[in-house]
Amino acid sequence: GDNLLYLCHRYDVPMEGACEASLACSTCHVYVDEDYLDTLPEAEEEEEDMLDMAVQLKENSRLGCQIR
Ligand code: FES
Repeated sequence: GDNLLYLCHRYDVPMEGACEASLACSTCHVYVDEDYLDTLPEAEEEEEDMLDMAVQLKENSRLGCQIR
C-alpha cells in the first residue's frame, strides 16, 4: 500500500527501510511534525514494540513504513 516509506521512495525522498515495511526493523524511524501528530491513527502495538528499539526515541517518533 501507500505508506510513507513507499511514497518517499516514489518521489526520491530518502528514507531507510531495511525490512521493506514488514515491521522487523526500526530503520524507517521518523519524527512527525507536531502539527500532524493528531491527524495520524495511533501506532499499533507491533509498531510500538519495534519503536522501542529505535535510537533517540521521542514523543513524536513513528515508523515511516507504518504511516498511511
Ligand atoms: Fe522496517 Fe519500517 S522498514 S519497520
